[in-house]
Amino acid sequence: MKKVAVFASGRGSNFEQLCIAQKNKKISAQIALLIASKPDIGAIEVAQNYGVSSRVFQGKAYSSSDEYNDALLACLNEYSIDFIALAGWLKLIPPTIVEAFPDRIINIHPALLPMFGGKGMYGAHVHQAVWQSGMLVSGATVHLVDAEYDRGMIIKQECVALDFNDTPEIIAKKVLKVEHKIYPEALKMLVENKIDFNNIKSRKK
Ligand code: GRF
Repeated sequence: MKKVAVFASGRGSNFEQLCIAQKNKKISAQIALLIASKPDIGAIEVAQNYGVSSRVFQGKAYSSSDEYNDALLACLNEYSIDFIALAGWLKLIPPTIVEAFPDRIINIHPALLPMFGGKGMYGAHVHQAVWQSGMLVSGATVHLVDAEYDRGMIIKQECVALDFNDTPEIIAKKVLKVEHKIYPEALKMLVENKIDFNNIKSRKK
């Protein structure tokens, strides 16, 4: 059985949906590890509830980013991790990890990429920007992770209709519902080798 590590920095609601999908046998892989960027986050509680091991990786515990990256990679190897799903992970994934898991890391973003992505575009900032744009659709995107924020190839995306009166908070709620639907579906595609990488890669300039 392939093993998945989920990386999270917050409440962990997307992580929980992945755990539920595994429990219901919708995903033929084991969610084997949570990497948390801080102690005391909701995601750690989710890991406890679903019997998933968790490890905290805080930059301040290491004397350099190389040391941090090496320790993180060693931990992923220790758990024999095959795939990584970022679920509300705020740090950039270091190139050493991207290189060690080619086309095997996915992220969920709470908007329709390539719009409303990039550095600083996370959490409430994204929904605020969508609201400000006046667009009447938003959505969620699952993409492969490379060394830049929110730039990897899109593997799954779904829209949600917005109303004129929706506040950024309402937009966030609508989008989260879509995230919870498509993230388990995207992870299933990845672990079951259902992604046509040649097709998506042939479109890149
Ligand atoms: C989600 O909106 C996700 O798209 C973004 O961070 C948020 C994490 O929420 N990357 P949760 O911790 O999964 O509840």
